Amino acid sequence: MFDPYKIRDDFPILSTTVYGRPLAYLDSGATAQKPRCVIDKVAELMTCSNANIHRGVHHLSERMTSEYERARERVREFIGARSSEEVIFTSGATAAVNTVAWSARYLAAGDNILLSEMEHHSDIVPWQLAAERHGAQIRVLPFDDDGRLMTELLPELIDSRTRMVAVTQASNTLGTRPDLDAVISAAHAAGAVVLVDGCQGIVHGGADVTELGCDFYVFSGHKLYAPTGIGVLYGRRELLESMPPFMGGGDMVDKVTFERTTYAPLPLKYEAGTSDFIGAAALATAMDYLSQFDAAEIEHHEHGLMMRAEEGLRRIDGLRIYGSCPDKCPIVSFDVEGIHNYDIGMILDKLGVAVRTGHHCAAPVMDHYGISGMCRASIAMYNTAEEIDRLVEGVARAVRMLGR
Ligand code: ALA
Repeated sequence: MFDPYKIRDDFPILSTTVYGRPLAYLDSGATAQKPRCVIDKVAELMTCSNANIHRGVHHLSERMTSEYERARERVREFIGARSSEEVIFTSGATAAVNTVAWSARYLAAGDNILLSEMEHHSDIVPWQLAAERHGAQIRVLPFDDDGRLMTELLPELIDSRTRMVAVTQASNTLGTRPDLDAVISAAHAAGAVVLVDGCQGIVHGGADVTELGCDFYVFSGHKLYAPTGIGVLYGRRELLESMPPFMGGGDMVDKVTFERTTYAPLPLKYEAGTSDFIGAAALATAMDYLSQFDAAEIEHHEHGLMMRAEEGLRRIDGLRIYGSCPDKCPIVSFDVEGIHNYDIGMILDKLGVAVRTGHHCAAPVMDHYGISGMCRASIAMYNTAEEIDRLVEGVARAVRMLGR
């Protein structure tokens, strides 16, 4: 059985105290804490190997270049891509979605893009910008009040003018894991391409992009126990080859003259400028770290904590939990009637419990329920039953203090 206490020492920040109380970090959906091996990798590379990649014949540059390209291969393996040329390093999931959206030569006036109602802003706004540029229309695949994506509506919403379907692998607010097979097969049957946002999904259950059959897959390193500033765009080779590059600059070129520039082959075509090579190497280290555990055991542990949280919170008068799909990932979003989510979050903070409050960068989900925000406890492998109990007691105390 997976034992979180055995790994907590790997994460130095978890021994922090907040206002004199031990930190109970329940905001890993926003960013996960980093194991010492990732922190050490960054320090080691900055101390011993720092040099720009793909640009020097000198020893350090070659050493860093091979770290970077090894990291790409590690990511390829981790997500089950066929070729490392289909793995593009970006600054995060947002940059990855923007890359695809800005390179959307396939969009024309009258086309449409289908988004799920539970997307977070990074998988909405880039598509709105693309739609505006090309005269395309945004369509929305809704979820029901339990948080289930209503894939039965796909035939009504996808037609021959649907060029792109963008959908999350796991909602950052509701925890829902939509039926991606249904989405992908309906999209492909209509000739549309599918981008899957794996920000939460890759952390909770992982991904095999080949098995999934999606055309693009994006995620950020920082939610996967790696540093900020590094992310991944996976794309099918034919699509990446046919799209124009998103950003221009060094490293993405073949030949440059003032008259004409030709581009480097994949994957560098989409990696303009100096990449976060240390971040990429540290992402590979985070993947190595995770791979030593049994993914099913971690999932079982996190699911157990989520059930414990939900069971405890449900006993609090006036508390509502948003998202109740049976196989949801370990995210518990809630509010309490008559009490502002910020107030609950502030009281929890004073008790050492860190949760996210507000719209969670998913304002349409709030609109669905007619609220302005909620509290969210997002659970990671290092969380414990004691922390969950502190969350529940903290919310109960906040409710007592705030006068319900
Ligand atoms: N998308 C991130 C979250 O869920 C920032 O908190």
